[in-house]
Amino acid sequence: MTIITESEDETIREGEKLGRTLKPGSIVALFGDLGAGKTAFTRGLASGLGIVMHVSSPTFTIVNEYPGDIPLFHFDMYRLENETELFDIGWDDYHERGGVCAVEWSEKVPGAFTPDTIIVRLENLGENSRRIEISAQEDKCTQGGEFTVSRSQCDIIDGGAKC
Ligand SMILES: Nc1ncnc2c1ncn2[C@@H]1O[C@H](COP(=O)(O)OP(=O)(O)O)[C@@H](O)[C@H]1O
Ligand SMILES: [Mg+2]
Repeated sequence: MTIITESEDETIREGEKLGRTLKPGSIVALFGDLGAGKTAFTRGLASGLGIVMHVSSPTFTIVNEYPGDIPLFHFDMYRLENETELFDIGWDDYHERGGVCAVEWSEKVPGAFTPDTIIVRLENLGENSRRIEISAQEDKCTQGGEFTVSRSQCDIIDGGAKC
């Protein structure tokens, strides 16, 4: 599924829609350059999970935790030296703790993701314009001949339309 947003608020709202569908243990891998809107989208995820705390970039801490019915663990891999460091800080524990893991700079840790990870690619198209592509690594279903998100997710995101 691909969406174009024309403001930060729109990106937040798209994150919110996805956030409402997430389950304990869901992993959302965010890809995209600096300023693409990864943190904005994650702010939406938090809001969709019912978390009211303000989400800011965890660049200096690798992970920020936001408590909630389903907590959010917000990772930023930008400063991570290597994947081993991620496992050292307890990556496996995080996604077994019943929270949602949202990961900025997923490019740095390709080996960290389970097959049911939700992939969100953000691309800067201009000053306020961003392309957001939501998909899954496995369990894909097609919509109009194109891959969209996994069956369980697309039911909700696309109203069950053609999946
Ligand atoms: N459509 C849009 N979606 C998201 N952010 C946007 C959009 N248009 C402009 N922006 C701006 O781009 C920046 C995105 O920042 P941020 O979410 O921190 O990006 P990242 O975490 O990918 O580095 C913000 O300054 C925001 O105001
Ligand atoms: Mg960021």
